[in-house]
Amino acid sequence: MEKFIIRGGIPLKGHVEICGAKNAALPIITASLLTGETVVIKRIPKVSDVFTLLKVLKTIGCNYFWKDDSLTIDSSSITSTNAPYELIKKMRASYYILGPLVARFKKAKVALPGGCALGTRPVDLHIKGLTALGVKVEIEHGYVSCKAKKLKGHRIMLKGPHGPSVGATINVMMVASLAEGITVIEEAAMEPEVIDVANFLNKCGAKIKGMGTPIIEIKGQKKLKGIDYSIIPDRIETGTFLLASAITKGNVTVNKCLPEHNLALLTLLREYGVGIHEDKNNIRVSPPKTVKPLSIHAAPYPSFPTDLQPLMVALLSVTLGNSTVVETIFENRFMHVPELIRLGADIKMIDRYTAIIQGVKQLSGAPVMASDIRASAALILAGLVAKGETHISRIYHTDRGYDHIEKKLKKLGAKIERVSDPTAP
Ligand code: EPZ
Repeated sequence: MEKFIIRGGIPLKGHVEICGAKNAALPIITASLLTGETVVIKRIPKVSDVFTLLKVLKTIGCNYFWKDDSLTIDSSSITSTNAPYELIKKMRASYYILGPLVARFKKAKVALPGGCALGTRPVDLHIKGLTALGVKVEIEHGYVSCKAKKLKGHRIMLKGPHGPSVGATINVMMVASLAEGITVIEEAAMEPEVIDVANFLNKCGAKIKGMGTPIIEIKGQKKLKGIDYSIIPDRIETGTFLLASAITKGNVTVNKCLPEHNLALLTLLREYGVGIHEDKNNIRVSPPKTVKPLSIHAAPYPSFPTDLQPLMVALLSVTLGNSTVVETIFENRFMHVPELIRLGADIKMIDRYTAIIQGVKQLSGAPVMASDIRASAALILAGLVAKGETHISRIYHTDRGYDHIEKKLKKLGAKIERVSDPTAP
């Protein structure tokens, strides 16, 4: 096991290039299975969630090879439609192979992904959508077993208790692309990653419209073809470096990003007090003269994203005054709070969805533990400004969503090292 050792107090300066979006890459990799042909996907981030998903594809008979950040996948000789629990349990997004396997082979058996640090992470909306399209779904012994004689389009409302579902919207879109007739998804997720998957499928020959709005219409096709495609930039990695610049009062330019995917964050950062200078594919953050506490409401896109909520809590922990952060998507997405408190933050949870933050002048370095991808990013940001040394353990969580984040931070002047962790159990 490894850990990060960070020495705080250095304002970040310089340029950082953004990778392709992990949460677009994962479903687009699985969507390539729909074609049964060779697909070349450019700008794939080299993060462990991608490597885990590729192991699942290999297990079912897909071949693939890398050339820089471009991935070529050949799904012409799939030998199995079963995905084992050993791999699925490592990465929730493996449920994305359910749709393409059912759509192409009319059967699939995929382990239930199970919960994670963020909560129970149900898949009932995925099952509701597939069932509406004619898939017979059974859950037995921890597996979702699917069979379908014929896939037929249908009108489906896909909103859950916490709003639309990114994963369920994408899974239904993939199956509907090869179903007979028209499918309409109501209360669809509008995230940029959903739009990117729809654009990929349309380039393969699908007929999808309305992506990015609450109503998506899919006209099923008989076959989809192999293509070349380039993934959108990662808006959460973009937000990570914008917030890293803000918390260290630095001067960072984020290159190869899409500012329009981060409008909610950019609006909040301007209100907070940092300078934001943007053009088509770049955003520069300049240090604030004065900063002010904020009221944050993490909700489905285009609202402020839940994936940046932990990082925003870190920033507000060192912003004098009273801030409020409300999380509306995941029932357990404040795992970073007890760890930030170990660094000296003053945060009170008034219920499982609401944090009240009293900003402090200075955090102090200490050993802390990562619990999920974005909680670990929040601890890194806190470590960048804490007095002294912060040791962050279980950074395999970080590596699931960031490609060696420490290398990019070091290039911006941060004092951060990745070392082996002798204390790890
Ligand atoms: C995607 O997860 C992202 N992951 C998450 O990013 C992101 O936080 C989330 O969307 C919300 O934007 C990937 O794309 C791989 P949902 P997903 O289905 O699709 C409930 C990261 O750090 N729900 O939109 O799993 C669910 O419990 C990760 O990169 C049901 O009730 O999220 C949650 O409360 C973390 N039933 C809400 O909906 C279902 O069948 C939104 O979940 C499915 C979801």
